[in-house]
Amino acid sequence: MTQLTPIEFQATDLDAMATAKGRVAILVTPEGEMNPPARRANKLTRGAVARLLESDRFVKAKSGQVITLAWPGGMAAEALDVLILEKGSSALETRRAGSALGKLKGTGPLLVAAGSYSRAQELAMGIALRNYSFDAHKTGEDAGAEIEPAVLSHNRHERIEASAAPLLAVAEGTCMTRDLVNEPANVLTTTEFAQRLDEMSALGLKVEVLDEDRLAELGMRTLLCVGQGSDSPSKVVVMEWNGGEDGAAPLAIVGKGVVFDTGGISLKPAGGMEDMTMDMGGAGVVAGVMRAVALRKAKANVVGLVGLVENMPSGNATRPGDVVASMKGDTVEIINTDAEGRLVLCDVMWYAQDRFNPAGMVDLATLTGAMIIALGHERAGAFSNNDDFCDAFLRAADAEGEGAWRLPLGKAYDDLLKSRIADMKNVGGRPAGSITAAQFLQRFVRDDVPWIHLDIAGVASVKSDTDFAPKGATGWGVAALNRLVADRFEA
Ligand code: BES
Ligand code: MN
Ligand code: ZN
Repeated sequence: MTQLTPIEFQATDLDAMATAKGRVAILVTPEGEMNPPARRANKLTRGAVARLLESDRFVKAKSGQVITLAWPGGMAAEALDVLILEKGSSALETRRAGSALGKLKGTGPLLVAAGSYSRAQELAMGIALRNYSFDAHKTGEDAGAEIEPAVLSHNRHERIEASAAPLLAVAEGTCMTRDLVNEPANVLTTTEFAQRLDEMSALGLKVEVLDEDRLAELGMRTLLCVGQGSDSPSKVVVMEWNGGEDGAAPLAIVGKGVVFDTGGISLKPAGGMEDMTMDMGGAGVVAGVMRAVALRKAKANVVGLVGLVENMPSGNATRPGDVVASMKGDTVEIINTDAEGRLVLCDVMWYAQDRFNPAGMVDLATLTGAMIIALGHERAGAFSNNDDFCDAFLRAADAEGEGAWRLPLGKAYDDLLKSRIADMKNVGGRPAGSITAAQFLQRFVRDDVPWIHLDIAGVASVKSDTDFAPKGATGWGVAALNRLVADRFEA
């Protein structure tokens, strides 16, 4: 796994600022107020900070922005990053500010002299999230360079360190998700994916890998029919975190793990097909959430299930027109083999309910291109059978700066799935494509199970930087779901 930027917490030491290597960051308020570390930097640089605070550039700048003084005289550092931050900034604003520092940091050392800033743990979180780079397949000089730690100095560093710990667990989960999503499909095969999940048993998770024979025994025919054209064996991985009360019904999170989606016999066009390495994004988020809750030893019961398959065309691939029976027993006429995610999820969701009787179920999937048409890359689509549960999730996502927006479900949409020869078709036509996909899934959700479907096709991996991630995989959803666990499932 990509090394998460180590964050060290130290007591404020003004004298260390002169000799610190790499980057040094200080905090000033938008009103130009300096705390003791900022005053020390100002003194070392013979008033450079005060001159900045007088400048037009500073007047125009906003809270959360960084102005860099390069090669500051009187300091050993190569850069003095002046972070403008309002004292009463929210947790999220502070995290964004930390992210601005994390972006500048690169692999070199960074000292953030935060003084007594009260939400400094969120600076650490922002740094850890944004100082991420997926270099696993780069060779050459910088490749594999150790990431130097970020040192956060604070007047109450022990308190800040303690409140940063659960946040950094989420950062680590998020970066695991990013690694999985960024990884190409020749590396992250179904087998390799299962292996990486299995390794999480070291964190105290119970991990079980179900192979094709077992899946056939269980009757997961719609899942298996997606993977049957691939040489990589289909798998379902079940991860259990039992940190809550014995026997308390868990939250189940279920992820689509299509390690590569060619479309199958309904082959996708060549242009952009390489992006379908991210079609396991839902499973990636499930992995990241399980890692986060295990690392922070959440007092909750959470089960994560992922369906790992590869959708390939071949002589024994599923054909358009084939009829396949699901584990639930309902039959599906497969009109388009490129609508494969729902075929994977319906069996895993049914199995999750059957085995765990969950108190709530959330599924995540890069399910439809139509989701990108609807909401772009800003927000994921949310669909639910339970207003209260869905509202709790939307609030959690909002608090973490992870956009989501609810879309409707309803009988008229469900009717579009009617098939002449089977219980349903796997596609409902172009109109409302994301909704009919959700409607398909809902047919496999028990009425008594509060359920949210998250279509993350637009947000799992993006082509430009976001607040908290460089371009590529975002890890969207790990923080929001972790918060949902904390808000609704922890004692
Ligand atoms: N994995 C795709 C959806 C997707 C598209 C995710 C673009 C991320 C970016 C999914 O399996 C798919 O192919 N969906 C089809 C459904 C259609 C055949 C009903 C789609 O969206 O075109
Ligand atoms: Mn597809
Ligand atoms: Zn797909």
